[in-house]
Amino acid sequence: MINPKTPASPEVPPIWAPGIIGAPTPKPARVRDYWLGGSHHSAADRRLAEQFTLCAPQLPYLVRTHRDFLRRVVTRLVRDGVRQFVDLGSGMPTVGNVHEVVQRLAPECRVVYTDVDPVVVAESRELLAGDDRTVYLHADLLRPEEILDSPDLRGLLDLDEPVALLAIDVLHHVPDSAEPAELLTTYANVLGPACQVALSHTCRDEQLLDAIRLYSDIYHEALPECAFRSAAEVGDLLRGFELTEPGLVPIPLWLPDADTEPDQNPEYFSGCAALTRRR
Ligand SMILES: C[S@@+](CC[C@H](N)C(=O)[O-])C[C@H]1O[C@@H](n2cnc3c(N)ncnc32)[C@H](O)[C@@H]1O
Repeated sequence: MINPKTPASPEVPPIWAPGIIGAPTPKPARVRDYWLGGSHHSAADRRLAEQFTLCAPQLPYLVRTHRDFLRRVVTRLVRDGVRQFVDLGSGMPTVGNVHEVVQRLAPECRVVYTDVDPVVVAESRELLAGDDRTVYLHADLLRPEEILDSPDLRGLLDLDEPVALLAIDVLHHVPDSAEPAELLTTYANVLGPACQVALSHTCRDEQLLDAIRLYSDIYHEALPECAFRSAAEVGDLLRGFELTEPGLVPIPLWLPDADTEPDQNPEYFSGCAALTRRR
C-alpha cells in the first residue's frame, strides 16, 4: 500500500485563510490539507504531519486515495442527476472537496458540510464565505436530528429531489456501540427514497495498528480510539442498502479513471469504498 509518489511539497503557497497563520494547535484536518497539497495549514500542522508520516509513511497516500474516491463518486452522482449532497465529517473543504468538484460539473449543486470540530467548522466557514450553495453545520453525526432538522439544511435542500449522503473516511470515528448501520439508515430515511449513500472506510491492518502504537511510544501521546473495520464489517454497515457496481471494493478499484493515481496492488489496499442505494 505504500506508494513511492512524494507527498505535498513543503514549499506551500501562502496561507490565506484567516486564523490559520501561526495556529499553535495542530489539527488533523489541516494535516490532511497539507498531504493533499493545499495551503491551509500552519508550521504546527506540518510538524504533526511529519510525526505521523515517520510512524506511518503510507498516510498521505491513504488520504489522497480517499479524496480521489470522493472525486470519482460525486462525479458519477452528478452525471446520474444528483444535485444535492450532505457530507458527514467533512473536514476542511479544500483541494477537490465536494462543492469544488460538483459545482464545476453543475453550478446549481448544493452541499451541506458537517463536522463536530468547532475550529474546523469556523475555518471552513471562512473558506466558504460568499458561496450561497453551501452551508457548513457544526454538528455531531451521531445525532442525526441535529443535522437533518437544521434550518440551514432545510433551507438549502429540497428533500423531494435526490440527495446523496457522503461518509468519506469518517465512520472509523463511530464505534459499533453507536450503531453506525442504523445511523446511515436514519439519514437515508429522511433524505428521501432516492437517497444514495457513498462511503469509504479505512480498514484495520497490522501496519496501521503498529504505526499507532509506534506514535504513542515515540511521542508519549495516545491517539483517539478509532474503529478501523475489516471490509466484511464495513459491508455489514451497509446491510440496509443495495450496492451499485462495482460493489464494496478496495478503494483504488472503485471505478478508477485516467486521473486516478495507479496502485501497484490495488486488491491489497487497506480501505474500501462503495456507492449504495436504498433497498
Ligand atoms: C478523517 S477526517 C475526513 C474528512 C473528510 N470526510 C475527507 O474525506 O477529507 C474525519 C473528520 O470527521 C470529523 N468527525 C469525527 N467525528 C465526528 C462526529 N461524531 N460528527 C461529525 N464529524 C466528526 C473530524 O473532525 C474530521 O474532520
